[in-house]
Amino acid sequence: MAELTKESSHVAQEESQEPKPAKKPKPPKATVELGTPTVIVDNLHIVYKVYGAASDSQKGNAANALMRIVRRQGRPQMKEVHAVKGVSFVARHGEAIGIVGRNGSGKSTLLRAIAGLLPPHKGAVYTDGQPSLLGVNAALMKELTGERNIVLGCYAMGMSPGELRDKYDEIVDFSGIGEFVQFPMSTYSSGMGARLRFAISSAKTHDVLLIDEALATGDREFKKRSQKRIKQMRESAGTVFLVAHNLDVIEDTCSRVIWLHKGKIKMDGDPTEVLAAYNKA
Ligand SMILES: Nc1ncnc2c1ncn2[C@@H]1O[C@H](COP(=O)(O)OP(=O)(O)OP(=O)(O)O)[C@@H](O)[C@H]1O
Ligand SMILES: [Mg+2]
Repeated sequence: MAELTKESSHVAQEESQEPKPAKKPKPPKATVELGTPTVIVDNLHIVYKVYGAASDSQKGNAANALMRIVRRQGRPQMKEVHAVKGVSFVARHGEAIGIVGRNGSGKSTLLRAIAGLLPPHKGAVYTDGQPSLLGVNAALMKELTGERNIVLGCYAMGMSPGELRDKYDEIVDFSGIGEFVQFPMSTYSSGMGARLRFAISSAKTHDVLLIDEALATGDREFKKRSQKRIKQMRESAGTVFLVAHNLDVIEDTCSRVIWLHKGKIKMDGDPTEVLAAYNKA
């Protein structure tokens, strides 16, 4: 198994010739001692099967479509989408790993696979503890009030009624949604929804927290606060994965960045180096 740690920054062959662009020095980040592995991804392949989709040999041809209708044939064909192609890395306690890449490069798929929501087609994912996925569509109920969703969310994360009582005020404060907590979530702006979701999920210490674009709609102040939370989580020796198209958030928050391209790791290592190469591409 290939081990790609922060120390052994790895660059795929085609990238290795690239000269490093000059960058102004950044203040050193608070270093967190890296611990034992929390997630090991070993040659992972994820394949989606899409039923009823045209296979490549029968794509978008009007005559074909007409023939099928005349012959009363449906589209029993199945198309496979190979979304993650042989990804391997090791994540450790205390790491915050940013995942970047273009739309459709496999970022969300990789997170869902780490969370155990997608079965590997090949390869394996080993985790220490139960990873929690915080996505744009995390399971809260729009028609219920913020209050109800806090209760629901905390119980869903396995908190006891006592823990919920202890954490409730902190969650409301952190979300900053004020009196809107008494209103149904359907009345929230997307940023307010994101704040509440993040406030609920981060109320519990997770061994592995997977965040997929969940901070994208928050404003500046919320981004600052959530970055602080992520740092605290790292310090309490959790591992955080963060998918974001906002590279500033990744650069400020993460200790390591993985660049996915068409389902493969193109680069894995120091945020400044990986983001510079990604920006150039
Ligand atoms: N449920 C699904 N069924 C079939 N194919 C899917 C499914 N979800 C994703 N895909 C395909 O898998 C590939 C990777 O998608 P994924 O959502 O992981 O990309 P992403 O990097 O998260 O993109 P984005 O930046 O747009 O969020 C894409 O080709 C996409 O079309
Ligand atoms: Mg995605």
